[in-house]
Amino acid sequence: PPQTMQAYRASLLHFHADPAFDEKAYAWHEDGLLIVEDGKVKAAGDYAALAPTLPPNAAVQDMRGHLITPGFIDTHLHYPQTDMIASPSPGLLPWLETYTFPTERRFEDPAHARATAEFFLDELLRCGTTTAVVYCTVHPQSVDAFFEASEARNLRMVAGKVLMDRHCPDFLRDLEGGVGDSAALIDKWHKRGRQLYAITPRFAPTSTDAQLRATAELAKAYPDTFIQTHVSENKDECKWVGELHPQARSYLDVYERFGLMRPRALFGHCIWLDDEDFARMAATGSAAAVCPTSNLFLGSGLFDFEKADGARTLLSLGTDVGAGTSFSMLQTMNEAYKVARLKGSYLPALRMFYLATLGAARAMGLEGTIGSLAPGAEADFVVLDPKATPLMARRTAQLESLEELLFAFALLGDDRSVKATYSAGKLVHTR
Ligand code: GUN
Ligand code: ZN
Repeated sequence: PPQTMQAYRASLLHFHADPAFDEKAYAWHEDGLLIVEDGKVKAAGDYAALAPTLPPNAAVQDMRGHLITPGFIDTHLHYPQTDMIASPSPGLLPWLETYTFPTERRFEDPAHARATAEFFLDELLRCGTTTAVVYCTVHPQSVDAFFEASEARNLRMVAGKVLMDRHCPDFLRDLEGGVGDSAALIDKWHKRGRQLYAITPRFAPTSTDAQLRATAELAKAYPDTFIQTHVSENKDECKWVGELHPQARSYLDVYERFGLMRPRALFGHCIWLDDEDFARMAATGSAAAVCPTSNLFLGSGLFDFEKADGARTLLSLGTDVGAGTSFSMLQTMNEAYKVARLKGSYLPALRMFYLATLGAARAMGLEGTIGSLAPGAEADFVVLDPKATPLMARRTAQLESLEELLFAFALLGDDRSVKATYSAGKLVHTR
């Protein structure tokens, strides 16, 4: 067989549609085989059907008793906030002042940035996250450090320089050059290997109108880049934006007026959006990054999945580390489930696994590239162990359905559930 062909025998789960709207949304192979060639998926299906297609001397890694899914995709987090995770504060705005800005200041030092990026990537891979959409700081060197670390590991990552030119400390303020620096970083990093760039205005209160205008021009000039920002996270923040932009219909409308809503625009939080806002999200092809561990930690509020689904808004899940309290997308599902319950709705585990894989890929305009085990997709996948802890082993010995298995992973799982992580067909984490 070609040197680069590998095969894995395990249970396989992946999606081709959204289980909230489509009954036959997923493929499940209890005794499955995943065949990888040149870093891409060649085939995924039943072992009995695919094993005969393998070359006679092909080695099959026997991972029976484990579950392979596409690698998790975290659509919102901040690598510079790694060291301040779990910092106590009564809400978003004091948390930013007290912890976030001083912590981000240290990323003017490229050595500190690089060391933090390495730890951050290790932690993502331990948790089975193979793609993340990442905020850096205002310092261009923080972006270089992140992409250099990611490129060295050949990971599919999205990141960008924070843009911020008011209502922030002087030591983190963009002068004239913020948008120009972003353009240079796009030219340097966007689509270099597996790296992708996200234009990153922090949030409406920290950019002048001039910066938002220039940011939107940049986003038009580079239509296949990402845009990431925060919207309607916290009531005090929403009130502040209302005062800064009295002419806008809503907080989200500030971004729309400046031309910042489009496909590949990812809006973190989206808690206090109304029906009209969700309709605008859907109409413009923008996507929400829902961050439940962060929203519960800061007391920001509860995302309304039913309202978002009513408008068919593109959805995905984010950890929002360092306001988020875990790097694990399984822990993030755990909290998402409870948020949905508190809003009187219900999130099946199947839907949560969709949101953390194909749903995120769709939200990012990367379907066909990541988030799936379909032929031709990049071979980014995780091997999950249902017996990772004594309690998990005890619970998963009693299963009556796939939903129960996934629910056990979502409610009881964390980094310990991740036996191995593969990126572009290469083993990048094992325990
Ligand atoms: N809003 C503006 N900046 C931030 C940030 O760093 N974290 C969170 N959670 N919200 C923000
Ligand atoms: Zn954030």
